[in-house]
Amino acid sequence: PLVTTKVMLEDAYKNNYAIGAFGAHNLEIIKAVIAGAEKVGAPVILQTTSSTYKYVEMPYMIALAKTAAEQAKVPVALHLDHGESYKIVMECLRAGYTSVMIDGSSLPFEENILLVKKVVEAANALNVPVEAELGTIGGVEDRLSVHEDNAFFTEPKQAEHFVKVTGIQSFAPAFGTAHGKYKQKPKLQFDLLQEIHCSTNVPLVMHGASGVPEEDVRKSLNYGIAKVNFSTELKDLFAEQLRAYFKDNPTENDPRKYFLPARESLIKLVEQKIEMLQK
Ligand code: 13P
Ligand code: ZN
Ligand code: NA
Repeated sequence: PLVTTKVMLEDAYKNNYAIGAFGAHNLEIIKAVIAGAEKVGAPVILQTTSSTYKYVEMPYMIALAKTAAEQAKVPVALHLDHGESYKIVMECLRAGYTSVMIDGSSLPFEENILLVKKVVEAANALNVPVEAELGTIGGVEDRLSVHEDNAFFTEPKQAEHFVKVTGIQSFAPAFGTAHGKYKQKPKLQFDLLQEIHCSTNVPLVMHGASGVPEEDVRKSLNYGIAKVNFSTELKDLFAEQLRAYFKDNPTENDPRKYFLPARESLIKLVEQKIEMLQK
């Protein structure tokens, strides 16, 4: 069965490793993520934004994730990524998501708190853990677009208050990562991350991990990062493989053939990412 993210994140947090959370957009990607996780033997998080489950359609989304979890030799969770409203979160809770993020990071501090509290109350009543964000993580994620100049870092004292009063199970700080590609090498604020780690005492989530150098990802594991989100690198590789396939085989029409190299290379990428998150 699908499991929640509670136990896996707490174990990772306690033992200085992290769980890979991968943007899951279709059957091929879901199967590749699970296969990659099985190769390492590590728990894994399938995550979707609301626009992804609207694209896949909710009943299919749930059936795919449930089937994947039943077949898998590792624990699998289905997580809502960047849930943009109370209503969206409720939709996912009703459907059977086992973990949710409420993203009120664009709201004023007090409003963000009120929204997150409300979500925690509803989700926790169903034993579903909640992730929330404070500060703004730069870059583009679906309809959410934050120019890097407008991205601002999480303030540790605010983070402490936010985590305490909302009762969230995991926290996504802004400490220099960004969604999508980086124009230059990202400068992660490890001092800040360390302060946030000390002041919050819950598993931390790294967003925007595509493009973050391995040594930086590994370093962050010492400062409470217990969930690492990857999306862009998977999408890039999948599309790249399809383009290459059709360049070599311009008349191929069989999905059972043209998806295969894309799926195989995604399995390797996921395996490599999860490997990098181990102790
Ligand atoms: P990337 O697309 O940069 O990997 O970010 C993923 C993410 O943070 C999803 O929430
Ligand atoms: Zn994100
Ligand atoms: Na990124």
